[in-house]
Amino acid sequence: MNAIVIVDRNWAIGKDNGLLFSLPTDMKYFRTLTSGGTLLMGRRTLDSFPGGKPLPNRRNIVITRNPDFQRDGVEVVSDPEDCHTLISQLPQEKVWVIGGGSVYTALLPQCRRAYVTRVDAAVEDADTFFPNLDKSPDWKLVSESEPITENGLTFRFVEYSNESL
Ligand SMILES: NC(=O)c1ccc[n+]([C@@H]2O[C@H](COP(=O)([O-])OP(=O)(O)OC[C@H]3O[C@@H](n4cnc5c(N)ncnc54)[C@H](OP(=O)(O)O)[C@@H]3O)[C@@H](O)[C@H]2O)c1
Repeated sequence: MNAIVIVDRNWAIGKDNGLLFSLPTDMKYFRTLTSGGTLLMGRRTLDSFPGGKPLPNRRNIVITRNPDFQRDGVEVVSDPEDCHTLISQLPQEKVWVIGGGSVYTALLPQCRRAYVTRVDAAVEDADTFFPNLDKSPDWKLVSESEPITENGLTFRFVEYSNESL
């Protein structure tokens, strides 16, 4: 499976249960890569979507400790490890860990690729972070796009490969 994330210069990903950036080109990239696939996410990330609704054209699997949790269009698991049963028969390149912080941390060691949108900005008071892949011996940068500027922000699409798998 893969992880996909947008981070700032310090690998920050969120603040007050919301994203740090809203960049149309990045949203399109996310949609293009994940459409038709299966998404794994924490309950707080689902709640951060408009209306708390799952993302269309994708299978949405949500992790929560709440045994009573239900939402239309969502499959629920109680532990990140339970995801493996649900996804074991799927092509792994079509399974996407989409956050947030706690779920990235739990499932990143099992991801083969990480698709990271790196924004050249530092957001103050961010409260949620992605592991710094540049400091991890397991992860190697394998490709990097040219810089793109949008809404006054410059960013690149960067891919990392997990060399430990
Ligand atoms: N930049 C990006 O690409 C990106 C992507 C996604 C999210 N985000 C941001 O990340 C932030 C949310 O991240 P977060 O870490 O606070 O929340 P999260 O990972 O989205 O969800 C946390 C919730 O998931 C459930 N959970 C997590 N680990 C579990 C485990 N081991 N077993 C069972 N349930 C588990 C729990 O749900 P219950 O409380 O229901 O038990 C927990 O409260 C937001 O700011 C969001 O906007 C950023």
